[in-house]
Amino acid sequence: MNYPHLFSPYTLGSLGLKNRTVVSSLTRASASDEGLVTPAMVQYYESFAQGGWGLIATEATYVDLQYSQGYLNQPGIASQAQAESWREVVRAVHAHGTPIYMQLFHGGAVNQGNHWVQGSIAPSAIAPKGTQISRYRGNGGPFQTPREITPKEIHAVIDSFALAAQRAIEAGFDGVEIHGANGYLPDQFLTTYTNQRHDLYNGDVRHRLRFHLQLLQAVRAAIPGQLLGVRLSQTKVNDLEYVWPGQMEDARVIFSEIAQTGVDFIHVAAHQGLAPVFGSTQSLSGLAKTFSGLPVIANGKLQDPALANQALVDGEGDLVSIGKGALADAHWAAKVQAGLAPIEFHLDMISPYATLENRAQWMKPQG
Ligand SMILES: Cc1cc2nc3c(=O)[nH]c(=O)nc-3n(C[C@H](O)[C@H](O)[C@H](O)COP(=O)(O)O)c2cc1C
Repeated sequence: MNYPHLFSPYTLGSLGLKNRTVVSSLTRASASDEGLVTPAMVQYYESFAQGGWGLIATEATYVDLQYSQGYLNQPGIASQAQAESWREVVRAVHAHGTPIYMQLFHGGAVNQGNHWVQGSIAPSAIAPKGTQISRYRGNGGPFQTPREITPKEIHAVIDSFALAAQRAIEAGFDGVEIHGANGYLPDQFLTTYTNQRHDLYNGDVRHRLRFHLQLLQAVRAAIPGQLLGVRLSQTKVNDLEYVWPGQMEDARVIFSEIAQTGVDFIHVAAHQGLAPVFGSTQSLSGLAKTFSGLPVIANGKLQDPALANQALVDGEGDLVSIGKGALADAHWAAKVQAGLAPIEFHLDMISPYATLENRAQWMKPQG
């Protein structure tokens, strides 16, 4: 058998997975203006279900009709209408026996397109680093400066995540993942330079982690018994250099405290998933396993199946998620298992936009 570890079954929470391959979350900015799922999205998610993957994560999906949306044409799960529109995706994916979870999102300061409200909110009134991302329909200019979120709004946002999680489960999803990574709202609390608050949400790493912990506890209580995970990273869409300032000690606190919230898994996002961190011999996902004791999804340049398989053998993760490789070829998992070469990722697939339409246009000249 090709890559026996990668294609061995695994039980995640109460879900039986046929193998260890996961489609990583991929924002495709292809929903309607109101955040409803489109027929092209249904077809897109179904193609992964036909493509041999063990588990599918949805793209980042916003949780309220306030400030959570970060990108134009991002899908939402903030209303009954949006939740209903996802039912088609779940039905199409489940028809092939593949489980799918939803990634729940709040952009905070990293907001370059919101259909519902003007302005943005964040832990502190600090404009994000970098410029708007044009492949997600941003204008390439600077981000706006957010308004500082009030304690009352913090609780409202947490409630929105809990309600969104319930809507996702009611729509038939097999679980949810809180997007706690990549520089969005929860990560803005954890990151020293975006969190300059003078209350209990700032201070040492435990204080900066408070928002994640409260959020996960609330969602855990809202969907008891259902699969719940969290995505974490050091780097951000708008800052590829950030390192947790307390390094190994931060990793210990973050992963062990998160394990106490009752989440079922941790998904670690990194550009180089297997790169050793903090002068140790382990990757960040390996440390997540060590410090949390939970199942971990490793991510980041693991599309070489030999590497992905070895990462599992070495205990760097229990599952591996593939981003760009999945975007390039929805049948990546089935092809790899059969010993065939998947279509390779090309930047043109997401240029000028990371939309489904753009990908379809790219496919045409290739025949
Ligand atoms: C077009 C595109 C969209 C992405 N959208 C999301 C997203 O919605 N949520 C998320 O957590 N990560 C997102 N990511 C990051 C990927 O999930 C993944 O972590 C990253 O691409 C590294 O994995 P890879 O080397 O296998 O591509 C996106 C990446 C790309 C290229």
